[in-house]
Amino acid sequence: MLDYTGKTVLVTGGGVGIGRGIAEGFAKAGAKLIIAEIDPERAAAVAAALPDAEVVVCDVLDRATPALLAQRVEQVAGKLDVLVNNVGHFVHALPFAMLSGDQVDEILDVNLGQLLRMTGAMLPLLRKAAPGSSIINVTSIEAYRGIPYCSVYAAAKAGIAGFTKSLALELAPEGIRVNDIAPETTDTPQVALDVMIPPENRANMDKWIPLGRFGRPEDCAGAALYLASPLASWVTGSAIHVDGGALAAAGWTRTPTGEWTVVPMVSGNGLKIPGQ
Ligand SMILES: NC(=O)c1ccc[n+]([C@@H]2O[C@H](COP(=O)([O-])OP(=O)(O)OC[C@H]3O[C@@H](n4cnc5c(N)ncnc54)[C@H](O)[C@@H]3O)[C@@H](O)[C@H]2O)c1
Repeated sequence: MLDYTGKTVLVTGGGVGIGRGIAEGFAKAGAKLIIAEIDPERAAAVAAALPDAEVVVCDVLDRATPALLAQRVEQVAGKLDVLVNNVGHFVHALPFAMLSGDQVDEILDVNLGQLLRMTGAMLPLLRKAAPGSSIINVTSIEAYRGIPYCSVYAAAKAGIAGFTKSLALELAPEGIRVNDIAPETTDTPQVALDVMIPPENRANMDKWIPLGRFGRPEDCAGAALYLASPLASWVTGSAIHVDGGALAAAGWTRTPTGEWTVVPMVSGNGLKIPGQ
């Protein structure tokens, strides 16, 4: 149903995790992939898995990278149908008062600054594929709820959501759509579940998220393939919460016997202040 043959898709941070899942999803649907990845080993692995993809080893934080990537996209396809701004990281899980000014700047740039620069650099190529081209920004459920010790990350993700809505208006007359994907905890190297959740706390994992499990990269891929497709041709400035119902639950979980509760059930995998 979703045929991306002849379409060019750029995914930032496509070596592992959500970006890799999204890249694989588009590749399976016939798209030409360009993948920007900082880690050479991850780049080699995704290049081996997706032999038709152009994998560019680069740092999206580097001010020269967006223009170099735009040149590459121009050479490969002459236009860009889908930009997936996926790179992002909480970087420092610390109380706001413990962050230095440089750390604040770093978190903002990793999550928001580079995304703005990449989007600006890709706009001329998205225009060449318009109408019908689109931008997908990966935000987070933390753009829509609070998270302790990641306040600047949450601010950056909420900033992306605001940027998405306003840019969607600016580009709508040209037929370029802009949308977000907002994941809840998804099993990736950044948020590896086998590290985050100690074995003694796993017995009731199926009760924490309404749909009974944490996310997988392919969950975000499904949302991305939909958002970039003609099925979403009247969807812009919007967000899909790929969260198993977590945002709707807003703290509600089920007990081991299946009752709904807002009483915390487990300890041992929470965010802690260093030294406490
Ligand atoms: N995993 C989650 O639970 C979760 C939840 C909410 C939001 N997100 C968001 O989803 C996105 C992807 O998260 P993930 O968990 O898959 O991350 P990840 O760290 O597992 O993977 C990110 C990929 O991007 C690459 N990368 C990192 N910095 C780069 C740079 N400067 N230039 C080029 N490549 C770079 C990494 O090498 C890696 O391959 C992020 O924006 C993150 O904030 C993730």
